[in-house]
Amino acid sequence: MYHETVLLGESIEYLGVTPGGIYVDATFGGGGHSKKILEKLGGKGRLFAFDQDEDAKRNTEQQEFSADPCFCFIHSNFRHLKRHLRAEALRSGSVNGILADLGVSSFQLDTAERGFSYRFDAALDMRMNKQDGPTAADVLNTYNAETLQRVFSEFGEVRNARTLALAAVRFREQKAFDTTADLVDLCSKNLMGDRMRYLSQVFQALRMEVNEELSALEDFLTDAREMLAPGGRLAVITFHSLEDRMVKNYLKTGNVAGEQQKDFYGNIHRPFEVMTKKPVEPSEAETNRNPRARSAKLRVGIKL
Ligand SMILES: C[S@@+](CC[C@H](N)C(=O)[O-])C[C@H]1O[C@@H](n2cnc3c(N)ncnc32)[C@H](O)[C@@H]1O
Repeated sequence: MYHETVLLGESIEYLGVTPGGIYVDATFGGGGHSKKILEKLGGKGRLFAFDQDEDAKRNTEQQEFSADPCFCFIHSNFRHLKRHLRAEALRSGSVNGILADLGVSSFQLDTAERGFSYRFDAALDMRMNKQDGPTAADVLNTYNAETLQRVFSEFGEVRNARTLALAAVRFREQKAFDTTADLVDLCSKNLMGDRMRYLSQVFQALRMEVNEELSALEDFLTDAREMLAPGGRLAVITFHSLEDRMVKNYLKTGNVAGEQQKDFYGNIHRPFEVMTKKPVEPSEAETNRNPRARSAKLRVGIKL
């Protein structure tokens, strides 16, 4: 299976799909969310699905999404949402619902040559879009120690980030980083705590850096708000505490830092009505069935 969809029932329910409406699935992946949205549209309306990964695009053809006249796939980073939707002749303020299910798919994680996982020996790549930007090996071979430390510590919450960053710089003086095995070797010599957890944290940190995941999310949130119609809904599933905080802040204040904006008269600006006071998390049954759902958090807002 390409990917087991997380929080499927909950996210679609919150999105409140109405037949004839215009919707966006910003992270198509295996198409689990898209399929449900199309069912709810009942042959009327439009669904624009984004994914920056070519393999996800191929997936639309295999699953015959492309044959559905309501469906339009856009092979791009969701940070360019507005530009692409405008090119499809959509005006700002015309979209009824936008969903994003962040991170990587099981297919990406489980495909050895993509380099996302410490479980396989492969080129140290980690790019979701194989045509774009530096690989994880490039990051490890070129960043200075301070920047590497920040990446490990901020994105991976690696406790000995400085030790690991300095060790990476020493490592590459002997041999350039090339494969996931090189990174596993570096981690193994600098482990703190549980081995699997440590490797997951380091690999996740690099993946987030390689794909500029936080800045892409910020751009996406800004575009999503502009494209949504008043009353339109924004639903975002995150898997990382920094992302969850950004989404929470954005829904509340209209910026990811959570700084409250006031108008000339001192009224607090409320961009969204928040539907999820607390984030929606997967049930025990879901996490038992799909352990990768464990850290998922869904937040939803209605554009005011
Ligand atoms: C967790 S999977 C989505 C799974 C999907 N909801 C399903 O039910 O199968 C995340 C997908 O989003 C894509 N993705 C992540 N960040 C992206 C971005 N900035 N722009 C476009 N696609 C992105 C990944 O390539 C991956 O295919």
